[in-house]
Amino acid sequence: MNDDHRNAMHSPLDPDDWEQFRTNAHNLLDSCIEQLRTARERPWKPLGDSAKTALRLGDAADGIGLKHLTDDLIENVLPFGTGNTHPRFFGWVHGTGLAAGLLAEMVAATMNSNCGGRDHGAVYVEREVIRWSAKVFGLPETASGVLVAGTSQATVIALAVARHKALGIDSRRKGIPEGARLVAYAAEGAHHAIVKAMELLGLGSDALRLIPSRSLNGGMDVTTLAQRIETDRAAGLTPFCVIGTAGSVNCGAFDPLDELADFCARESLWLHIDGAFGAWTRIAGPPWNKLVRGIERADSIATDFHKWMFVQYDCGMVLVRNEADHRAAFAERPSYLEAQHSGLGGGEPWFCDYGTDLSRGFRALKVWSALRCHGSRALGAAIAENCRLATMMGRLVQESPELKLAAPVTANICCFSVADSPDPGTLNTDVTRRLQLSGDVVFSTTKIGGMTVIRAAITNHRTRETDIEFAIRRVREVAAAAR
Ligand SMILES: Cc1ncc(COP(=O)(O)O)c(C=O)c1O
Repeated sequence: MNDDHRNAMHSPLDPDDWEQFRTNAHNLLDSCIEQLRTARERPWKPLGDSAKTALRLGDAADGIGLKHLTDDLIENVLPFGTGNTHPRFFGWVHGTGLAAGLLAEMVAATMNSNCGGRDHGAVYVEREVIRWSAKVFGLPETASGVLVAGTSQATVIALAVARHKALGIDSRRKGIPEGARLVAYAAEGAHHAIVKAMELLGLGSDALRLIPSRSLNGGMDVTTLAQRIETDRAAGLTPFCVIGTAGSVNCGAFDPLDELADFCARESLWLHIDGAFGAWTRIAGPPWNKLVRGIERADSIATDFHKWMFVQYDCGMVLVRNEADHRAAFAERPSYLEAQHSGLGGGEPWFCDYGTDLSRGFRALKVWSALRCHGSRALGAAIAENCRLATMMGRLVQESPELKLAAPVTANICCFSVADSPDPGTLNTDVTRRLQLSGDVVFSTTKIGGMTVIRAAITNHRTRETDIEFAIRRVREVAAAAR
């Protein structure tokens, strides 16, 4: 590199021509807006061979420049989403994303903030999101929290806090003491994220007891929970945590959180709530908000904004009632991160002291923007509407002689099966697959009572009654053709 290059103010990694970049970026933004505007016409589609080839990087030794990159993004990336922006996407539990999120993501990318800590705007935005959420869930103002990739990560953090609380803070240095055998409890049908967290925390998935439900959608049977804990204590084990689910992934069951809170208070156990999507019924008004009565008594809550708050991926959150417990499990500040009383190195508390990540993006901005733009009343109304549409789907299933409801609809999840087939499980999978490929509707599948069923989880602010009618009509037609 000659002296001219070394001293030039311009970096080759910045645009050569900012006006050209402005034009390209405006074109790209237009394409993004157009894609959102026409989301109804753009269901999921599989990538053909040429689309996959277009994504190959090769050795990527030389770049193509911003102009070609813009064309590449518009032609080769933008059209191949998961399809969850489409109004008839009911698969797994996928939120749709908001136009406000597109704006927020542009600003976050421009600022490129690192939210591990320090004193800058992004951390104040995240604190507002945490403060607002704690208030919504009825936790004290002093509750702490941190935004994470999703409920899976939030669960690891929450259970780590509960584990440290049970074992004492020495366990951070010394690990799990010899002979200590911690056990946790959750309802059958609890999410696999909890199993993974138990494994990662060194407690082992065998130490997660799965308690049967009172009925298919009736939530955890607290009498059985009490008996199981007694048996475990008698065997020398140490029960430390009960995990209540607010909206189970399979069929949307809610555990009786108030009853669990009474029980945990009596037994001095940590109460963690997995409210990945269902926690947000809290803002949906009656009757839906009654499903989470008692969540305000939790020691910790894991939830997502990217599911039922319609915010873009990824964005989950863990909240902990007692900030001191949360901090004790994670805070550690080596010399290169020492606190300053002011300056950019100030701004205590730092988010890196509440979780595993030191470098963290500005996730909070898309949540803050959703709330700033729409307000919680409108977001809650969209949640209530999703519940109403799931109930309607359940009714249409029951009115269709060739379909059968597989579980009662509690909130936003409707599971059903084709009836009267020699192998309904295989037919359910086949119908689901054919409908995905047709672009008509995306369902996913799960097992209920050992049989594979078709499952709709409606966390979609674009869905309308006509979409539900169309979806069920297509299930009937495709099932009839596939028999
Ligand atoms: C009840 C429940 N818990 C946990 C998770 C995991 O959440 P995430 O995918 O955000 O990690 C999910 C995901 O669907 C869920 O439904």
